Amino acid sequence: MILLGNVDEFDEGESYGIDLDTISIVLLRQQNRFFVYENRCPHRGIRLEWQPNQFLDYERQFIQCAMHGALFRIEDGECIAGPCPGEMLKALSYRIEEGKLFLTE
Ligand code: FES
Repeated sequence: MILLGNVDEFDEGESYGIDLDTISIVLLRQQNRFFVYENRCPHRGIRLEWQPNQFLDYERQFIQCAMHGALFRIEDGECIAGPCPGEMLKALSYRIEEGKLFLTE
């Protein structure tokens, strides 16, 4: 398991980019749930963010790829608009133990 941080470091409604040795991830906290995906757009295989920690669209309802604007549902990572409809962000599993958030794969 890889420690991502303390749960209370991640604010409600925000998105975070975290670069690990072997993978870059996007972590989101929404309605007190966490969603963790590989930071890789299925359209062209590049990073998603506009700027550091900026992964959400203007209305903060979807993850948006900065390159061509694909929109992905936060809940499951499915592309619902843009150049790759139906494709998925790769979901990563995590675990919370004693107030700490760990990536488990
Ligand atoms: S690279 Fe993400 S929408 Fe094209």
